[in-house]
Amino acid sequence: MNLLVTGGAGFIGSNFISYMLSNVRNDLYIVNLDKLTYAGNLRNVEAVENDPRYSFVHGDICDENLVAKIFENYKIDGVIHFAAESHVDKSIENPRPFLQSNIIGTYTLLEAARNYWMDGIGVYKKGFAHARFHHISTDEVYGSLGKTGHFTEETKYAPNSPYSASKASADMIVRSYFETFGLNVVTTNCSNNFGPRQHDEKLIPTIIRRALALKPIPIYGNGENVRDWLFVTEHCRAIEKVFVKGKAGETYVIGGHNERKNIEIATMICEVLDQVLSEQLKSYHLTSYKELIQYVSDRPGHDFRYAIDDRKLCEELGFVHKYSLQEGMEQTVSYYLKKYVDGLEGAWI
Ligand SMILES: NC(=O)c1ccc[n+]([C@@H]2O[C@H](COP(=O)([O-])OP(=O)(O)OC[C@H]3O[C@@H](n4cnc5c(N)ncnc54)[C@H](O)[C@@H]3O)[C@@H](O)[C@H]2O)c1
Repeated sequence: MNLLVTGGAGFIGSNFISYMLSNVRNDLYIVNLDKLTYAGNLRNVEAVENDPRYSFVHGDICDENLVAKIFENYKIDGVIHFAAESHVDKSIENPRPFLQSNIIGTYTLLEAARNYWMDGIGVYKKGFAHARFHHISTDEVYGSLGKTGHFTEETKYAPNSPYSASKASADMIVRSYFETFGLNVVTTNCSNNFGPRQHDEKLIPTIIRRALALKPIPIYGNGENVRDWLFVTEHCRAIEKVFVKGKAGETYVIGGHNERKNIEIATMICEVLDQVLSEQLKSYHLTSYKELIQYVSDRPGHDFRYAIDDRKLCEELGFVHKYSLQEGMEQTVSYYLKKYVDGLEGAWI
């Protein structure tokens, strides 16, 4: 299979490429198309850059000519579409790039896939009957939950930020390409990921970086917002499962089975750091990194709680969760210690 991975220099995409290439599959070729925005970094894919099953193309998913050429040159017969503007706070400051990359970019890729794979409505060209487009989306399209309940594939869309609205729009366009043209698509909506190679701006790297710098650790509002934390390697396993086994036209939600308040996550990370860096802690006259936690004014429209019921993924496709939150967090903290303390940016452990 010749797989086009978009946004593969970002957090989840780069983990997915490493994951797929580390499973010995000699029939797999991966083309990584990435614009290298502030969020993309080629150091994230350093470990695979010399792999004969891998190529990098620097470019924009909105560039029709480039995308069509990639399909032709590499005979693409599978797409895993990660590329997006992904930071909610940035979408509040300036929504336009979100609408452009997340909506027009997704449309451009779908159109290229349809042209390259299909002869007409529901009719695939010879050799492309198996070709599939997998769209990666977010649980934020469902809006916010109260104290109880879970998102499922049946939950009504209610996006609250320009980011989630742009992802919701993309999900609808993907759906329409299945309903209208019979394009073989699947969509997954996952919860908050964590793990190595996440951009410094996100919550978990920020907590670790601020703790190491002995600076206040900022937590929005009262820290009570709840997220269902999904370890990135678990997510990659689930994506592979849906890409291979998922039913065309269907959506699957993916959760981590790790519902925690933001303050609980901050506390957990501080406790891991307290253990790993106990000597430094003493020399700083602190008893715990938790003493650095400080509440800051809340983000506008901040969704209160996300939680996922991914029984469809587990029961219909036989997916089995493997990583505990503690295990994922220890790997994550260890990666960021290498990055921030030893200066080994992009170090993979
Ligand atoms: N990180 C999460 O917790 C999370 C949760 C749910 C869903 N998602 C979704 O997963 C996907 C990947 O998220 P991430 O956290 O890895 O994001 P990221 O911001 O770390 O990476 C995005 C990558 O896409 C690239 N990109 C952006 N616009 C592009 C364009 N127009 N053309 C080509 N490349 C472009 C960037 O350079 C970057 O490498 C996104 O679609 C996001 O909506 C992420």
